[in-house]
Amino acid sequence: MRALFIGFGNVGRTIARILTLERSRFPGMSPLDDLVPVAIVTRRGGSLVDTKGIDLGLALEEMDSRGRFPEGHPGYTDITGVEAAGSLDYDVIVELSTLSIENRGEPAATHIRTALSRGRNAISANKGPIAFSYRELSSLAKSVGKKFLFETTVMDGAPVFNLRESCLKGCVVTAVDGILNSTTNYILSRMEEGVGFAEAVKEAQDMGVAEADPGNDVDGWDASAKISALANVLLDADMTPLDVDRHGIAGVTPADIRKAAESGKKLKLVCKAWKEKGKVFGKVGVEEISHSHHFSLVSGGGAVLRIHTDLMGPILITQENPDLYDTAYGVLGDLITLRQLCY
Ligand SMILES: NC(=O)c1ccc[n+]([C@@H]2O[C@H](COP(=O)([O-])OP(=O)(O)OC[C@H]3O[C@@H](n4cnc5c(N)ncnc54)[C@H](OP(=O)(O)O)[C@@H]3O)[C@@H](O)[C@H]2O)c1
Repeated sequence: MRALFIGFGNVGRTIARILTLERSRFPGMSPLDDLVPVAIVTRRGGSLVDTKGIDLGLALEEMDSRGRFPEGHPGYTDITGVEAAGSLDYDVIVELSTLSIENRGEPAATHIRTALSRGRNAISANKGPIAFSYRELSSLAKSVGKKFLFETTVMDGAPVFNLRESCLKGCVVTAVDGILNSTTNYILSRMEEGVGFAEAVKEAQDMGVAEADPGNDVDGWDASAKISALANVLLDADMTPLDVDRHGIAGVTPADIRKAAESGKKLKLVCKAWKEKGKVFGKVGVEEISHSHHFSLVSGGGAVLRIHTDLMGPILITQENPDLYDTAYGVLGDLITLRQLCY
């Protein structure tokens, strides 16, 4: 199975580490022993193309030590993601580039659209294409008889879409809700401990949990992208993060946190999507959650998702402090699924 990787940041490099340096720790990865990475494309760090297979260990070493691929590396090129998706020979595109809300999930959606149109399979850890273009991309995948998998996009490696697909056959999902953005959950948890908003944001940045520009998290955009992806896939919606009724945590003050605590509650950024009179709605906003509610147990970088269906549930999926291995697993699990189904 020949793979084209778009992006070689935290997730791409963790995948490479698991498949090379740390391969002996993970015997379950054997279905991927014959995976051939034919290209790795980045935006500013150069790209590599080798039809015989890139040495992932060397690529990892170079990216870790220099922050880019050196021009002397065999197969070095400045090909872009769109060019690679449209011209190279591969079996699956693995979309690991950055989420762009401003560009409505592009160019990631175009990478996937191009791959599927050429009869290739697609895997995405980038939620942009699912949050903005799911209906179009999934029907394209269906029409060409190829797979479009994206387990990582909402809860890293925890089963969300696979659970729905494999274990809830015949059930109709009526609503989903949860706490899905770890950065805001961390900030609110620290504020409960008496840390100020700005200081908690800085801590999250220093830990690498929040980005240099924390706006995507703090203003609720990342959470809106996740609820939009969930609504599109599980509730058959055709919404984008711009359709979500979105309120971030920027206005939350220590006084708000104290007031909630006085009545035995915690403040959490809750995401929800539900069906009403045939229409699907999405909402992200801060809510007071009682200490006895399952959602209040999620602290730090954890997450929780509740799936409501007509026949089963509600079912709760919780995650305790996921790290990059969880995220990498989500993508590796999709690659194994594809390997077992198609190759
Ligand atoms: N980190 C997590 O725990 C996590 C969890 C779930 C999902 N995800 C999703 O997984 C994806 C990757 O995350 P990450 O943490 O690995 O991000 P990252 O560290 O910021 O790396 C992003 C990579 O994508 C490349 N890239 C960005 N735009 C590109 C473009 N237009 N064409 C080609 N390459 C491009 C970047 O290249 P340059 O460095 O050269 O710009 C970099 O190699 C994101 O969409 C993220 O939301 C991440």
